[in-house]
Amino acid sequence: MTTSSETRDLVVVTGASTGMGAATARELAHRGFHVLAGVRRDSDGAALRSAHIEPVILDITDPDHVAALAARVTRDPRPLRALVNNAGVAGAGPIEATPLSAWRHIFEVNLFGHVAVTQALLPALVRSKGRVVNISSLNGKVSMAGYGPYAASKFALEAMSDALRNELAPHGVRVVVVEPGGVRTEMSRTGLTALSRLDAAMTPELNARYGDLMSAIPSHVAAFTKAGVTAEVAAKKIARAVTDGRPRTRYVIGATAAFLIRASRVLPDRVFDRMTTSDLRKHYPAGARGRTTAAHTG
Ligand SMILES: NC(=O)c1ccc[n+]([C@@H]2O[C@H](COP(=O)([O-])OP(=O)(O)OC[C@H]3O[C@@H](n4cnc5c(N)ncnc54)[C@H](OP(=O)(O)O)[C@@H]3O)[C@@H](O)[C@H]2O)c1
Repeated sequence: MTTSSETRDLVVVTGASTGMGAATARELAHRGFHVLAGVRRDSDGAALRSAHIEPVILDITDPDHVAALAARVTRDPRPLRALVNNAGVAGAGPIEATPLSAWRHIFEVNLFGHVAVTQALLPALVRSKGRVVNISSLNGKVSMAGYGPYAASKFALEAMSDALRNELAPHGVRVVVVEPGGVRTEMSRTGLTALSRLDAAMTPELNARYGDLMSAIPSHVAAFTKAGVTAEVAAKKIARAVTDGRPRTRYVIGATAAFLIRASRVLPDRVFDRMTTSDLRKHYPAGARGRTTAAHTG
């Protein structure tokens, strides 16, 4: 691969201000690409900018931003090698207690935003026989109490990716899904801020039903994230999804994710439910544990 700035192939990474997106932008620049790194604030762009990382202002739910990105790619003579759809928001909370506006926001970012950017960049990707890399999650394959809205958005992203892979195969564009387990990034913090807002808005009736679950989620997320990998480790795997000559359809990040995805395939639903429930139960307030067991194993 060439290394002069003018001849490097292009890669787009969305959600590059922090976490895996920032680490992936750096990893791909290191591997010889010119990275168009999507950020929502000038200050994040300034922190990221380097010889081979060019920040672009990109809220993936803003059609003007998406159109500007497509125009930026089109007027560049260099081929677009890959689009990494990485931007994402957390979405923990019980199904019943999560307002529809929050559901819609999660899907706007975690699904429709990626569809919009993919549609806008596909003409360039088809020309270059490039690649779409969708950052899904362990929760794109496994759903459990307290994580329904996020998991639903990632399951939908997986379904979209499977269809897209088959639609684009005849046109030489590969579609790859990356499924991380716990990764130590900003997401646990921003997710908990959203969860506190949800908690504060819960009615006494919802509190009676889900109060114990709501108090378990922060500790469960913290334990899961602490046991996870760094953004840099995840970025190396994402970079492989971008550069492997014959990429797999899916790359899983982390042993826990690999184990849970496999277990969810082979175990009957109720056995798998008991496994995820007992893991969550460790984080319930002490007095709630008996109730939870009864509720989930009946
Ligand atoms: N961390 C984990 O354990 C984990 C596990 C599995 C999958 N994932 C997935 O990995 C991806 C990266 O997450 P991360 O863990 O690196 O979290 P992160 O540090 O919170 O990064 C999320 C990125 O998405 C951006 N973003 C949010 N809304 C956006 C929008 N409307 N338009 C454009 N960008 C937007 C954020 O930008 P701002 O800074 O401007 O908000 C940020 O750059 C996500 O898709 C996430 O679902 C994470």
